[in-house]
Amino acid sequence: MKIAVVGATGLVGREMLTVLEERGFGQEEVMVAASPKSVGKKIGFAGRELTVQSVEDVIAARPQYAIFSAGAAASRQYAPLFAEAGTTVIDNSSAWRKDPRIPLVVPEVNIDSVTRNQQSATSGRIIANPNCSTIQMVLAISALQREYGIRRLVIATYQSITGTGIKAVRQLEAEERNLPLPTEEMAYPYQIHRNLFPHGGDFQEDGYTTEEQKLVDETRKIFADPTIQITATVVRVPVVGGHSEAVNVELRKDFDLEEVRRLIAATPGVILYDNPA
Ligand SMILES: NC(=O)c1ccc[n+]([C@@H]2O[C@H](COP(=O)([O-])OP(=O)(O)OC[C@H]3O[C@@H](n4cnc5c(N)ncnc54)[C@H](OP(=O)(O)O)[C@@H]3O)[C@@H](O)[C@H]2O)c1
Repeated sequence: MKIAVVGATGLVGREMLTVLEERGFGQEEVMVAASPKSVGKKIGFAGRELTVQSVEDVIAARPQYAIFSAGAAASRQYAPLFAEAGTTVIDNSSAWRKDPRIPLVVPEVNIDSVTRNQQSATSGRIIANPNCSTIQMVLAISALQREYGIRRLVIATYQSITGTGIKAVRQLEAEERNLPLPTEEMAYPYQIHRNLFPHGGDFQEDGYTTEEQKLVDETRKIFADPTIQITATVVRVPVVGGHSEAVNVELRKDFDLEEVRRLIAATPGVILYDNPA
């Protein structure tokens, strides 16, 4: 199999390569692409060195799969070109998530939407991956949606700076050491070290931020239920990796709390820690 990772020099792209290696893709042909400034750089993978290529060269090589984490603008530009060349794109950015033709998939929750949503050959070759806070939340509550139906969610997230990319990690490290950082190298306009921001992304007209809106729109799409009422507050916290969330869930049917615990504990990929002592 030939697999491309687009955005391979970034925080998420490097993690994707690590996961591919862990999952036994070490023998496959793996191609790596990034922006023009990184072409020619070397990246280690499964005991060998991969050379970063231009996105155009990787499209021409027609891999079976291209896993994208190069930001929404690059996804909008290049994902359709890969799809036209016959490559299936799995896109980690926000570019395609709200497009009704494109499946938005958390494999453990709604893998069936990959086949259900294919309306044209090209759109059928792009699969979107949700925002990180949405993924982990829908996974934890998917059994509750299935068994009881969810009426309402009140969400508060505590999101790691890694969600903003490699620039944010460098900013925090510089601030921890009290080193000066040029404005263009800062991910946030304010200090994040020993600080929190009570918002994520840009503010919308209604006062919610874009990170908050993603939790609303993406959860409804993944659960295929536009009637779920959702409100979210996103807080950016100075930790490197690991988003936390507090989620208040109102169910449509009567429930037994022991059964709720049992359902969450039985969900593949979820570990229930519920021992305050
Ligand atoms: N779904 C999720 O769970 C999740 C979680 C975190 C992030 N994300 C998304 O993943 C994407 C990457 O995040 P990140 O944290 O890895 O960011 P990052 O550390 O800033 O890395 C960005 C990557 O994209 C590449 N890139 C930028 N512009 C490009 C272009 N025009 N053509 C080709 N490559 C380009 C960069 O290459 P250079 O090194 O050459 O600049 C780099 O490899 C973002 O869209 C982010 O929103 C998703």
